[in-house]
Amino acid sequence: MKEIIVETIRRETGAFMPYHQYIEMALYHPQKGYYMRKQPKIGREGDFYTTPSMTPVFGEFLGKWLCRTLKEANLPPVICELGGGGGQMAANVLKGFTEEDAGFAMELVYYMVEASPYHQASIKHVTGDDSRIRILPALESLPLIEGIIFSNEFFDAFPVDVIVKQDGEWKEAGITPIGEDLVETVRDIRDEEIRQLLQTWDIPPFMNRIEIPLQMIAAYEAVIDKLMCGFLLTIDYGMDSEEWFSPIRKDGTLRAYRNHQLLDSILDTPGEADITFTVPFDLLRNQGTKMGCHEKYWGGQAEFLIEGGILEELIPHADSDPFSLASKRNRQIRQLIMGESISDYFRVLWQEKHIL
Ligand SMILES: C[S@@+](CC[C@H](N)C(=O)[O-])C[C@H]1O[C@@H](n2cnc3c(N)ncnc32)[C@H](O)[C@@H]1O
Repeated sequence: MKEIIVETIRRETGAFMPYHQYIEMALYHPQKGYYMRKQPKIGREGDFYTTPSMTPVFGEFLGKWLCRTLKEANLPPVICELGGGGGQMAANVLKGFTEEDAGFAMELVYYMVEASPYHQASIKHVTGDDSRIRILPALESLPLIEGIIFSNEFFDAFPVDVIVKQDGEWKEAGITPIGEDLVETVRDIRDEEIRQLLQTWDIPPFMNRIEIPLQMIAAYEAVIDKLMCGFLLTIDYGMDSEEWFSPIRKDGTLRAYRNHQLLDSILDTPGEADITFTVPFDLLRNQGTKMGCHEKYWGGQAEFLIEGGILEELIPHADSDPFSLASKRNRQIRQLIMGESISDYFRVLWQEKHIL
């Protein structure tokens, strides 16, 4: 993969590849991109965990919540999951949805937007090729829908640009090949959209390096356009700008993982590691508001789950066997909502569009 990137830079510009193009190639190159390769990525055998890969309770609860929310708003049983990964979440959502209302679940149309052919095959396998699921390779193929569009760790997988401060001035960072290696270099900012975003963002002076997620914003805009009326539920590793712009993140949040290890550099092993960043949720929130969406919830994942009624899922039981199914399930619910859990790192944005 590195050779392909070096070759592309030499052919196209000779010296500089913007970060978004580098990440796009490293993650989504049709043959060698990380998400396109046939190998486990999520879970113990892969490079990183996501909530659905750790516990079925999360997806099952979400399935019930989605079912209730559709019914309360008199919406048809149509949902769309963005970036469904290997299909674990879909299988769990379908189970929860069916437990909530089996009849409504029979009529369900479940779109899944998933770019990776490896994950598409896994979705079919994990969900038993359920006929209610319609897998689409890109958002453009999604029809206009009335229903709910949701995602878990989708927006943190978007390619970003990077700007760095040099002598008090913001410059664009990018990739330059030196011999066989890829190194970071900088140039003046050329992209007008980056400049515009910089003008509207109130960036504290201690920040040295920032990701600019233009593709993420454009994708959220496209998602909102696809929703005629209904809800958007976005769950991701992220925070609002106040928290994002912090001295501990003064050098940015872009990072790579392989075999559950944080790598020293995102430039060493393109195609072999996941590259991700912490989502600055205000950009999504503002985009939603700009496009006429109304915010129903913004905040921590644990609070969202509690407000949504996850505690009612706890099974009362008298047995003292810590390995019984009921004990295990109760433990998983507690782990999702108690301190020092995976939920601490996740935020939930729930917006509605054109609900009467
Ligand atoms: C970090 S994984 C999360 C998977 C799953 N949601 C979970 O929580 O386990 C991101 C997924 O989004 C997919 N993806 C990323 N960008 C995409 C895009 N623009 N269109 C479709 N799928 C995309 C990737 O292939 C990958 O399966």
